[in-house]
Amino acid sequence: MIQNNSATALSLSRRESLRAFGLAAGMFGFTGAVNRAAVGSLSSVTGAPDWASIAAQFLIDPEIAYLNTGSLGAIPCPVMEEMQAVNQKLESNPVQQGFGPVLADAEAVRPKIADLFGCKTEEVVVTRNTTDGMNQIAEGLNMQPGQRVLTSNHEHGGGLGAWKYLVKRRGVFLDVAELGAPPASEDEVVEKFKAALRPETKVIMCSHVTFSSGVQVPIARLSELAHQHGCLMVVDGAQAPGGVLVDVKALGCDAYASSGHKYLLGPKGTGLLYINEKVKDQITPFVLEDGYGVYTAIRGTSNWTETIGLGNSLDFVKSIGREAVAGRLMELRNQIYDVISKTPGTQLFSPPPGSSMASHLVCFSVTDRAKHPLLSEQFAKDKVIVKGVGIQGIDYRITCHLYNTEKDISRFADSLHKVLGQA
Ligand SMILES: Cc1ncc(COP(=O)(O)O)c(C=O)c1O
Repeated sequence: MIQNNSATALSLSRRESLRAFGLAAGMFGFTGAVNRAAVGSLSSVTGAPDWASIAAQFLIDPEIAYLNTGSLGAIPCPVMEEMQAVNQKLESNPVQQGFGPVLADAEAVRPKIADLFGCKTEEVVVTRNTTDGMNQIAEGLNMQPGQRVLTSNHEHGGGLGAWKYLVKRRGVFLDVAELGAPPASEDEVVEKFKAALRPETKVIMCSHVTFSSGVQVPIARLSELAHQHGCLMVVDGAQAPGGVLVDVKALGCDAYASSGHKYLLGPKGTGLLYINEKVKDQITPFVLEDGYGVYTAIRGTSNWTETIGLGNSLDFVKSIGREAVAGRLMELRNQIYDVISKTPGTQLFSPPPGSSMASHLVCFSVTDRAKHPLLSEQFAKDKVIVKGVGIQGIDYRITCHLYNTEKDISRFADSLHKVLGQA
């Protein structure tokens, strides 16, 4: 099944199995932190995470092979239980709870994001999503007519929209560095950006991991390039955290926007934004005029339950181990890559396993164009959920997470082989 965001109903049997798993309300407390003991017990005797038990902590319909976390991930059941508990508390006395302990718990999520990004709490803003974060940055830069933004040919509409607005309404120009899919080397990426820089360029904006080809871009090197030319480096991190480790200081960027609802397994409509304290006076969107807090006069009331849920999802991933989770996603990704590379009539656009530019995303196309619709039909028939890409000649993107197991990869392989055959 090719997704552009169609809703999938939960099966009752899955809910029942959730109850059987013992994740009833009350198992997790009101502490604002995931029950680490419960997650910690999901280890095998060797001490390595028990991936099968962890996979069972999600409501993903067992009828489907869900391979589209790059669009939306799923929240772990313990986190959902905690969010329900927060809501019950909030609704028992909205103002007293909402502007009291619930808001305090939501505010306490900013240090968790700072911990994830390796920055100070004061450099973190909770947003609604990557797009929201990018909008805030683009608006807050107060760019002047004639100034230029340099980006790549593999950017997502969510990251690009605000810059296109500046082009349309403010006389700003957008330049594009044309990257290969995958690029031959990190050097090639840096050279392409360098060649496209102009004296008027004020911002380099690029994805950390490209949504279309799964390339992990050498951001640290682009930050260096940007700063050498007196530009700011702004990163669209929608596809990165949770799948790759993000250290914004090591990346050297000035701003980094991401979403909670993909690989961080957070609630839908949660986002994370980093603004380097050194440039906070250069990025001044009106919503941040009263500071970066979750609640300020100019931001008003927001969905604090979801913000708290994001914090709990961050705890969930951290409890298993961020490196272990990223390693697991890479392991599943390499299996997918292997299946595709051994299937005739496919073209891979993502870097091979082991490359410094490889990420947890795998993107590919079908070379015999007549077989493309047949494969899409086959995925739909077999309930294999993948993302249709549709830019730069790339057909599909496969993204896994903790709810996926080797069984899902076999289902994907079977669909592929039914249409394209096997080598
Ligand atoms: C690279 C990139 N940027 C931005 C977005 C938009 O994300 P959101 O809807 O969470 O703002 C996406 C969504 O998939 C993406 O892949």
